[in-house]
Amino acid sequence: MALLENPLEHPEKFHISKDLGFILEDPLEELPDRYQVWVKLAKNLPTLVEEGQFREEAEQLPELSIDELQGYKEQRLAHLALSVITMGYVWQDRNVKEVLPRNIAVPFWNLSEKLGLPPIMVYADCVLANWKKKDPLGSMTYDNMDTLFAFPGGDCSKGFFLVSLLVEKAAASAMKVIPDIFEAVKKKNSESLKESLQSVASSVYEAYKTFQLVHEHVNPNDFFNILRVYLAGWKNCSLLPKGLIYEGVSEIPKEFAGGSAAQSSIMQCFDALLGIQHTTENGNAKYLEEMRNYMPSPHKIFLEAVASHSSVRDFVSSSDDIQLKKAYNECVKALVHIRNYHLQVVNKYIISPSSKQDSEKGQKSSDDEVKGTGGTNLLIFLRSVRDTTKRALLEES
Ligand code: HEM
Repeated sequence: MALLENPLEHPEKFHISKDLGFILEDPLEELPDRYQVWVKLAKNLPTLVEEGQFREEAEQLPELSIDELQGYKEQRLAHLALSVITMGYVWQDRNVKEVLPRNIAVPFWNLSEKLGLPPIMVYADCVLANWKKKDPLGSMTYDNMDTLFAFPGGDCSKGFFLVSLLVEKAAASAMKVIPDIFEAVKKKNSESLKESLQSVASSVYEAYKTFQLVHEHVNPNDFFNILRVYLAGWKNCSLLPKGLIYEGVSEIPKEFAGGSAAQSSIMQCFDALLGIQHTTENGNAKYLEEMRNYMPSPHKIFLEAVASHSSVRDFVSSSDDIQLKKAYNECVKALVHIRNYHLQVVNKYIISPSSKQDSEKGQKSSDDEVKGTGGTNLLIFLRSVRDTTKRALLEES
């Protein structure tokens, strides 16, 4: 990859697709023969976990060098397969393992370094690279899609990963107009900027509508009690308080946050484009910035370029054009709307099942203390991110 290229002029060189944004286009399903053992084991995870055999099988894997993996898509599939194996190995039956054996740890660590990703399952693995079309000529609809790898909990992981992917895809249609937005600001062309901003707002509304599919395809109990266990990380984690030892890499345990859609680049991309800055005093900005280290490094570079070059907000706020301010505010309102809806979803899938579990155990705890897979005090964090977004609205006079 030519990192000297300007990401805003050549997003395709930063693994950003014209049609699908940060989603990996047509991911590979198979690896070269010697690496197929990873794919096979990861595919069999749900059955092997049910039979209590997953760890034993994982321990039998040969320790492979990653040098013969050719090209980006092979590397992404290998990272996805090794990440699934790692999550299964660490969390099988909730009977946690503190050491990841070297036959998994060494290739996973080396490959992660090569891709600029952490050695844990991230959103770019389980959502952005974990899909295929059933009919390759058909379109990307839920019914025509499947995941490459699933976790225990029936169809819950398929639902969660594919709905997230479709939300990402709906929002990604706004990425096409980013070059037009930069051009319009540069040329002080308010009419063209208005049009492009309207297109961003309607993509975010499409994403919101797609989000509603979650209720059809993800069961709250399976999500809370089964899938979340496998998405959890080893940072701020009471079961692995010091982190995980990657045998053959270091004897010191390493901490990494679990998989979360907070690792999606798309919402951060809109924030950066619109000049929405999350507050530093309660750690939100720090957490969101940290999540950039859980994105493929070319995507992180792209986000940084958008954040440092975008003067959309300054241009609109200093303009007298009320229609332009309205178009900018439509984008902000769409983001507030989707973040509000996300809060409702989080209530249904995490807060309610968590309160129910506490009351069954006769325990009392505050909703504000419930933690996300990324380790945040999730309600406080999500409300505050929503509120900062709201504060970015400009006066329309
Ligand atoms: C059942 C569905 C979902 C649940 C339960 C859920 C849960 C969470 C939680 C708990 C967080 C806080 C960070 C953490 O500690 O993990 C979070 C953050 C976030 N989630 Fe989700 N999420 C869901 C679906 C989605 C989807 C489909 C998207 C969009 C692709 C999304 C985008 C985000 C973003 C962007 C953040 C960072 C905060 C922000 O920028 O507003 N989530 N999510």
